[in-house]
Amino acid sequence: MNISVIGTGYVGLVSGVCLSEKGHNVTCVDIDKEKVKKINSGIPPIYEKRLKELLNNNIKNGFSATTDLHSAILHSDLSIIAVGTPYRGDKIDLSSIKKAASAIGVSLKEKEEYHVVVVKSTVVPGTTDDVVQPILEETSGKKAGKDFGVGMNPEFLREGEAIDDFMNPDRIVLGGIDPKTHSILKEVYKVFEGVDILTTNNKTAEMIKYTANSLLATLISFSNEIGNLCATLGGIDAVEVMEGVHKDKRFSPILANGNRITPGFLSYLAAGCGFGGSCFPKDVKALIAHGKDAGNPMALLDSVIEINKKQPQEVIALLRKHLSSLRGKTIGVLGLAFKPGTDDMRESPAIPIVNYLLTEGAKIKAYDPEAQHEAKKLFGNHQIVYQNNLSQSIQGTDAILLLTSWDEFKQVPDLIHTQNEQPLIIDGRRMLSKNLFHKYEGIGLSL
Ligand code: UGA
Repeated sequence: MNISVIGTGYVGLVSGVCLSEKGHNVTCVDIDKEKVKKINSGIPPIYEKRLKELLNNNIKNGFSATTDLHSAILHSDLSIIAVGTPYRGDKIDLSSIKKAASAIGVSLKEKEEYHVVVVKSTVVPGTTDDVVQPILEETSGKKAGKDFGVGMNPEFLREGEAIDDFMNPDRIVLGGIDPKTHSILKEVYKVFEGVDILTTNNKTAEMIKYTANSLLATLISFSNEIGNLCATLGGIDAVEVMEGVHKDKRFSPILANGNRITPGFLSYLAAGCGFGGSCFPKDVKALIAHGKDAGNPMALLDSVIEINKKQPQEVIALLRKHLSSLRGKTIGVLGLAFKPGTDDMRESPAIPIVNYLLTEGAKIKAYDPEAQHEAKKLFGNHQIVYQNNLSQSIQGTDAILLLTSWDEFKQVPDLIHTQNEQPLIIDGRRMLSKNLFHKYEGIGLSL
C-alpha cells in the first residue's frame, strides 16, 4: 500500500521504515528540511538500535522523506499522523496534531480517491473523533465515512527496542470509525502474520495506550512505596519481598516441567529511584488531567506521579545518612539516562539528584555509556567532570550513586575492591549484591 507518515520523530520514522521493510511504499513527511535531508541521506536524526541499517536498506527500495505533505497525501492511500503530543502546562498539547490534520484535510480537498487518516501519536481519548475528524472535514469540505476514513492505531514501542517491537508486535490495536477503515488498516497490517489484532473504536484504541502505560507506571510506584516502607521498618529487604511476590504462580506460572515463565511485567515490580522517559510521566499526567476535565479525578494515578516525583529524594536521603555535608565531597554518579540502552535523559531521576548535588557543592564525577552528551546540554560541564570509563568514575570518590541499571555497572564490585579506600555505594536500582560491599545502601533497604 502507498503510505504517508506525517512526522519523523521516533514513532514516525521507526513506523515508516518498518512498514517499508514489510513491503509498503512509504513516504515520511516533516516540516524540518534538515531532518528530511538527513533521512534521505541515510542518517537517522535519532539514535535507535538497527534504525540506520534498516533506513539505508529501505532507501534503496524506494523509502524517502519529504517536506511536501500535499504531494505525499495525493500519492498515498493512507496517512499516519505521528507528530509529537507533549504535556505542557497542565494538559496534552495537541497543536501539532491539529496542524497536521488541517494540512492533510486541505490536500484531501483535491483528492478524488478514498483516503484513510490514522492517528498513531498518543492522544487522550476522544481526540481522534472530536478533534482530528472535525478538522479533516472542515478543511477538506468532505465527509468522514463517505469520502475518507479515520482510524487510531497506537504504538507500543519501547525506546531502545523500537525496531524489534514494531517488527515483532505483541498486539495490533486498530481503532476506526467504520468497517471500511478497519478493513484498510487490516490490509496494512496483514504482513504481520499471526499477531493478535484488536479492532475497536477510536476512543477505546486511545484508552488502551494510556491504560497500558499507566499500569506499568503504577507497578513501579507501587513497588517504590512498598520499598520505602521496608526501609522505614528496617530488617526487611524489598528485593526479597518482591522476589516472594513474583513467585506467586499467577505472576510467574509454573510449567508442567517445573520451570517458570517470567513475564516481562515483573521487571516493573521492583523498587528503584523512579521512572522517567518521554512516555510514562507525560502519559500518566495527561490521563490524570483528562480525567479531571471529565469530572473524574484519579486518586491512584495522582499518587503514582507523586510517589515518583519524591523517589529520587530517597537516594539523597541515603547519601545524607552518611555524609552530613556534601560540600567538597567527591560523588560518583553512575548512570544519567532514564533507563539503560538509550541516551535519553528526559525525566530521568538523575536530573533532580545531580541538581541537588550541585546545589550542595559536591564535586561530581559522572559516567554514562551513552547519555553524557545529553547531560552536558542539561547541566553544562563546568561543575561536573564527565568520565571516559566506569573505572575512572569510581576512583577517589567518597560515595557512588548508581542511578541507571546499565549492565556494565555489574563490574562495580570488582573495580571497587582494587581501591584502598572503599567509597559508600548507594544502589538506586538494586542491581548489585549488598553483601559485596563494606559500605552499601540501597532503595528498599535499611542497614
Ligand atoms: C514505554 C512502554 O514500555 C512502551 O510499551 C510504550 O510504547 C512507550 O512507553 C510509549 O508510550 O511510547 P519506554 O518509555 O521506552 O516505553 O520505556 P520502558 O522501557 O517501559 O521504561 C519506562 C520506565 O520503566 C523506565 O523508567 C524504566 O526504568 C522502568 N522499567 C523499564 C522498569 O522498571 N523495568 C523494566 O523492565 C523496564
